[in-house]
Amino acid sequence: MNKFLIAPSILAADFSRLGEDTTNMIAAGGDVVHFDVMDNHYVPNLTIGPMVCEALRNYGITVPIDVHLMIKPVDRIVPAFAKAGATYITFHPEASEHIVRTLQLIKEYGCKPGLVLNPATPLTYLDYTMDIIDVILIMLVNPGFGGQSLIQGTLRKLRQVSKLIGLSGRNIRLSVDGGVKVDNIAAIAASGADMFVAGSAIFGEPDYRKVIDDMRRELAAVVHS
Ligand code: DX5
Ligand code: ZN
Repeated sequence: MNKFLIAPSILAADFSRLGEDTTNMIAAGGDVVHFDVMDNHYVPNLTIGPMVCEALRNYGITVPIDVHLMIKPVDRIVPAFAKAGATYITFHPEASEHIVRTLQLIKEYGCKPGLVLNPATPLTYLDYTMDIIDVILIMLVNPGFGGQSLIQGTLRKLRQVSKLIGLSGRNIRLSVDGGVKVDNIAAIAASGADMFVAGSAIFGEPDYRKVIDDMRRELAAVVHS
């Protein structure tokens, strides 16, 4: 069983003082920086790119950076993110013409590759990719915006993917994104997730440490049940 990782999404951070806000979040116990990249094409919103990732590294952020690409095309931005200090790079399979090529590209550049599955994306994308991916990110909402409510049917998908990972025999992280809160994180963990992206639940509260501690308390109860 992988250690549970909390990955606050800086989409909900204060962009006018991103370095400081991210540092505060890590000091409060965040394990991983979740970095949402949107292009106003694959999703109807526009956010941040490799220059901001590099700026965070230069500011002194050393924890893993989990780059979630909601962009199309995917391949040409991968080298830039690798050079900017990305740790994980995940993308939506619908956005790549050649999925294995994109996964290989991410690996060649020294990052951990992963696929992101939207609520309606079929699991068949995993049939021939499980031997190369290091992380699967299950969207619990439709991608594009923070602050949405979790779509319940996605937990069934999470359980199915958790089983597939078990059958693969590989150590693949199972991450979830969208609508993760203190009051549902235990149910999500019980469905198989081991990495939890949360934006508004953490950055929307004044005391990041309290939220992260509350999440860890909920997760500890799952482990001991
Ligand atoms: C949505 C993004 C998420 C977003 C989650 O497309 O991929 O990472 O920041 O935000 P919350 O936790 O507020 O649902
Ligand atoms: Zn995300």
